[in-house]
Amino acid sequence: MAGFSFTATAGTCDGADLALVARTEGTPLYVYSRASIEQRYRALDAALAAHPHRIHYALKANSTRGLLEILMAAGAGVDANSGGEIAVARRAGFAPDDIVFTGVGKSAAELEAAVAADLHAINAESAGELERIDRIAQARGVRARVAVRVNPDIDAASHPGISTGGRGHKFGVPIDDARRVCREAAARPGLRLVGVHAHVGSQMTRLDPVRRTASTVAAFAGALRDDGVALEHLDLGGGLGISYDGAPAVDVGDYARTLLGAVAPTGLRLLVEPGRWIVGPTAVLLTTVVDVKPQSGDRHFVVVDAGMSELMRPALYDAYHRIAPVAPRTGPYATCDVVGPLCETTDVVGLGRRMVLPEVGDLLAVLDAGAYGSAMASNYNRHPLPAEALVDGGDWRLVRRRQTVDDLLACEPAAPAGEVLPRALPRVSR
Ligand code: LLP
Repeated sequence: MAGFSFTATAGTCDGADLALVARTEGTPLYVYSRASIEQRYRALDAALAAHPHRIHYALKANSTRGLLEILMAAGAGVDANSGGEIAVARRAGFAPDDIVFTGVGKSAAELEAAVAADLHAINAESAGELERIDRIAQARGVRARVAVRVNPDIDAASHPGISTGGRGHKFGVPIDDARRVCREAAARPGLRLVGVHAHVGSQMTRLDPVRRTASTVAAFAGALRDDGVALEHLDLGGGLGISYDGAPAVDVGDYARTLLGAVAPTGLRLLVEPGRWIVGPTAVLLTTVVDVKPQSGDRHFVVVDAGMSELMRPALYDAYHRIAPVAPRTGPYATCDVVGPLCETTDVVGLGRRMVLPEVGDLLAVLDAGAYGSAMASNYNRHPLPAEALVDGGDWRLVRRRQTVDDLLACEPAAPAGEVLPRALPRVSR
């Protein structure tokens, strides 16, 4: 298996010494395994091989271009959630037909651009959005390929903040209204209704919601066929969870069989939009200990140079990521609250971890940081976005350099010499 290994003496990624990578590139630093990204993509693709399908990798999980090049070469399409993600995908080399466009609030400009580009599908979230797409397409004299996102009212049994398929959630068209909405969409001259879409949540660690979603969507497609609406595909979103604690996760073969069991009888092509499952386990975030201070008993704060600005998941969702010392020390275990350097009490990496107390300068690896890690990083406290290194064949290269202070200030007008603030900000033109 490609990826990361932590022994009593060293941490490595596909033969590259993580301590050396960190010494060379500095920390905080994301390190990815190219081989692991390829292996995971191929494993999912092989698991779905019995039925016509396409994997539209969810860019929101991580759209660093060096990773997209690997996935494109492996045959992936993409799921974009914004005009920015579409633009990045196009620059990485994906064709419009490789792209599905999801998103609960697409702006007028984003819809214009999406229709003009003739994407594989625009996953529409409401009757109003379908009407807006229809108007744009008619004005251009084209028919836009659309899928309707249905909200099947299914509990993803995941964290509430990343569950999206319930009645009270903002996503999609309620399943009870969806048949009428789809019939109306199919009759619009500017639309070609090619699919039905559902995504009920992320980090799903049980198959039951996957099975219920797939069978609900398949049955819904059957009802539409009875209405004379012929679809091309069913898009069952992403959401397959990974193990963050090392316990066995849902098997990708079982996941694929669950989807195909419902979709194969419809004869429709299957699209999936996985993000986390493909890239989550393929990266670590390397961080350096900058302070160690005692609390009571054997409990200590271990302050590191990465926090919620580099990896937001623990602060935002109470998410658990394993933390491994890259060159473990020997000695008694202590209870460590590994925390970041930002001025927020929620700025944690992992609380209550039992490990030999690290010392200032030690290197820690935060595991399974490939999805929603760098993609959700921010400049809070003016932290530059971290560098990202891709290990390939025992060596590595930067796929993103660390931001500089000049990068941080590039969008802000400079004060003329002698003035503290510019007299007036340039006029905004849209
Ligand atoms: N498709 C749609 C329409 C989505 O909304 C998402 C994720 C995906 C696909 C990909 O889901 P995945 O396979 O990665 O679970 N920031 C959170 C996760 C938010 C997921 C949002 N939507 C986290 O760090 O856990």
